[in-house]
Amino acid sequence: RFDRDEAARAILARNDRGGYTVPTDRLYPFQWNWDSAFVAIGFALFDADRAYRELERLVEGQWDDGMIPHIVFHAPSDTYFPGPEVWGTRHRIPTSGITQPPVFGMALRQVHEAAVKAGLPQAQERTSALFQAALRSHRWWLRARDPDSLGLVAILHPWESGSDNSPAWDVALARVPTTTTTTIRRKDTGHVDAAMRPRDEDYQRFIHLVDTYRDCGWDPQRQWAAAPFKIADVQMTAILARATADLMHLAETFGSAEERTELSDIHRRLLDGLARRWRPELSRFVSLDLISGEDVDAPTQACFMPLVALRLDDVQRKAVTAEIERWHQGLIVGLPTTPSFSPAFEPKRYWRGPVWAVVNWLIADGLRLNGAEDLARRIEQGTVGAIERAGFCEYFDPTTGEGLGGDAFSWTAAAYMVLRR
Ligand code: DGY
Repeated sequence: RFDRDEAARAILARNDRGGYTVPTDRLYPFQWNWDSAFVAIGFALFDADRAYRELERLVEGQWDDGMIPHIVFHAPSDTYFPGPEVWGTRHRIPTSGITQPPVFGMALRQVHEAAVKAGLPQAQERTSALFQAALRSHRWWLRARDPDSLGLVAILHPWESGSDNSPAWDVALARVPTTTTTTIRRKDTGHVDAAMRPRDEDYQRFIHLVDTYRDCGWDPQRQWAAAPFKIADVQMTAILARATADLMHLAETFGSAEERTELSDIHRRLLDGLARRWRPELSRFVSLDLISGEDVDAPTQACFMPLVALRLDDVQRKAVTAEIERWHQGLIVGLPTTPSFSPAFEPKRYWRGPVWAVVNWLIADGLRLNGAEDLARRIEQGTVGAIERAGFCEYFDPTTGEGLGGDAFSWTAAAYMVLRR
């Protein structure tokens, strides 16, 4: 155990590029938004100063309108596509033009608490500056991605969800043309078996969307109007709501009276929006396709993510825990990102079935908040066991426990340190 904890720290050290951590060498050679937030929580366990640095380096990429981009290209690398020239954004440090789940606010609370406990000098100043950055990003979310006040924030690109090729996007993505003005030169399949990655056709659509939004000059309103893909996502909304609750906590010390009210208003709006997405007949929450007006039926991990933010009633809690148990049946390791009974299930292909440590981290946290301590523990222990058997891989095959994707993965190392406690 001691050795494995050392090994986890060694991965973070190895993926350190100077105050920020790449998800893994070569496959993901820049700073990624939600990866860094999870990594900061891992660092907070043993080095609060370095944990702050991770978040501070991420907000070097924050845009004037408040958006925190999904990739910050601090230093060049030729092992990744699409690089800064494809995105064509105008920030002083090159960044992508889309965002990712706002785990940032959750991380900030934990980093702050660890720093105070460790007696780190300047903790108040550092938290205060990052609190303002987080608040600006939450305002951006509501303004840019919930202009109609549904209480749900929308993604305009599957990459924003973090779950790139999830079956949740299949119906909506099929409407996106495969034509691109950018020449596609995939690099990922040179690092990882193509059978574990999104398909070429997915990439054509991913890049079609990038071309479309770049042609909008990355202006949020123009993108909203032009978007051929627009999903009010329960996973994104749940993470934003939870991060808002964590910011409300920090606002008691770092916020003004107006900011405290503003955050509670945001929180209420998001909780109301999420609560309306519960489908008792499915025992889960569902996202909303804003182009077709239809519910997103595909069962994926996203359907349980509202637990990190909402307090379920007894009937909902029983239904959700039974459903999560059902998804585990017959598997070596859970929770699968798509259940094995779904026709879309592919146990090795990225977000179409494999188990991800950070997803389990959030779901277990949500189960615990909702009083399902036993199931939360089992998910955490299952994750720790999978990592101990297969290593710090990007993700795991639920049917075999095999480690897949990139190896020496930063967020898996962070998840290990957090979940084994
Ligand atoms: C990728 O390139 O695979 C990423 O998930 C996009 O952020």
